[in-house]
Amino acid sequence: MIPEFLGRLHPLVLHIPIGVYVLIFILQYPMRRLRDRDDILHSVLIIGALSAVAAAGLGWLLSLEGDHAGDTLEWHRWLGVAFAVSSVLLAVIHLFAAKGKIPRNAYHTAFFINLTLMTLAGHNGGNLTHGEGYLLPSFTQQDVSKEVPVDSSALFHSIVMPVLERKCVTCHEAGKTKGGLRMDGYARLLKGGKHGPIFVAGDPMNSEMIRRIHLPIDDEKHMPPAKKPQLTAAETALLHWWVLNGASATMRLPADAASNDTLNPFIKVDAAIMDPLTVMDTLPSVAMPDSTVLRSLKTAGWSVRPIAQGSALLDLSAVNMSALSDKDLDALIPITANILWLDLSGMPITDASMSVVARCKNMRRLSLKGTRVGTEGIRKIVGLTSLQQLNLVNTSADDAVLPLLGNLPALDRIYAWQTLITPSAAEQFRQQSPRIRLETGFNVKP
Ligand code: HEC
Repeated sequence: MIPEFLGRLHPLVLHIPIGVYVLIFILQYPMRRLRDRDDILHSVLIIGALSAVAAAGLGWLLSLEGDHAGDTLEWHRWLGVAFAVSSVLLAVIHLFAAKGKIPRNAYHTAFFINLTLMTLAGHNGGNLTHGEGYLLPSFTQQDVSKEVPVDSSALFHSIVMPVLERKCVTCHEAGKTKGGLRMDGYARLLKGGKHGPIFVAGDPMNSEMIRRIHLPIDDEKHMPPAKKPQLTAAETALLHWWVLNGASATMRLPADAASNDTLNPFIKVDAAIMDPLTVMDTLPSVAMPDSTVLRSLKTAGWSVRPIAQGSALLDLSAVNMSALSDKDLDALIPITANILWLDLSGMPITDASMSVVARCKNMRRLSLKGTRVGTEGIRKIVGLTSLQQLNLVNTSADDAVLPLLGNLPALDRIYAWQTLITPSAAEQFRQQSPRIRLETGFNVKP
């Protein structure tokens, strides 16, 4: 409890040594004519050393919480310790240098070593919290991680990867490589974890990944770990089937997929995405998006991915952003035609933002989950003739949205639990628009 609380002070405390060493730099070089400089420097160096030790100690406590793992964490942890040690040494070296017992240059060298360690530890820490490559974002670099060309009928991409994304990737991705394993993409899956490959194509029971998901939940090697959302029986069966059938990235959905008990549950779930005719053959052709626009969206925190390598169509998501205002959505205007999927969930945006969303004429999926968009906002997007899936979970959408949505020609799914939609209106909608699946879950507010 207390170590946990203290650990969480790390992100705050770590800024103190940074400030202190910048101050020391200024005192030491631009202000080197200062009187009593050595006395002042000595006190500040002690403060620097104490704060570096505190930051490293709290960081160590935080690392025990286990939210991060992998090489980045290891580097960050030991660079932090090295920085704390070097900060203490620096204060000592300064004392001797001021008394003339060792050359000044030794102190200056030590000072720059200390700055370097601080920068490296800080940079690694930034990668931990913000993801690898945070400092130098590169559009192309991130996209190659989507190795698998999206072909809606490629089995891995359309049904296996989504399962991994839901249940595994949170702990097995950049900066959180538990067990040394990344699962965010086929090539990484192929590479395996710290004990090597995690699957043997065609041999599920010799595949570490499959062995672990079949282990009893109280076995400590069971995946996902006991406290976390578990695979459903259908998902477990699917992963097993996929490995048994060759664990390929390019294998297409078998023609009899719908009558295959293992695959069938997944096909129904995402009928619109799975059906090769509705998606592959009719994907709109649009011009490539302007790369400067994409870069600035990324800098602003958007996750921007082409839906397939080289595709002009985009999967855009605000999941990693902490806040987004209605006005911020204006940044999407130059690329509205390119947006195929748009995820705005959790953002404090309101009805006003829907005028930009309404321009995304090619959009297939839209998530407004947990936003402040209500019925008035929905009224603005009734012209989205390509929209297939709409997520309104945890919004103030009410009964009035249903007749509006009933007219959207391509719509086949609405997720609408935790809304103001009443059970009776939902029932009536289902009868009038049988084509559209309205999911209200069990939490319909009265
Ligand atoms: C809550 C975090 C978490 C989730 C979610 C999670 N894992 Fe893990 N995984 C870990 C940790 C921690 C380890 C390292 C400890 C161990 O080996 O048990 C690990 C290790 C592994 C390893 C062994 C890697 C190696 O080479 O040692 C495999 C395989 C694995 N996980 C597969 C999965 C699969 C498949 C899923 C999804 C069904 C999943 N994990 C979901 C935390 C997680």
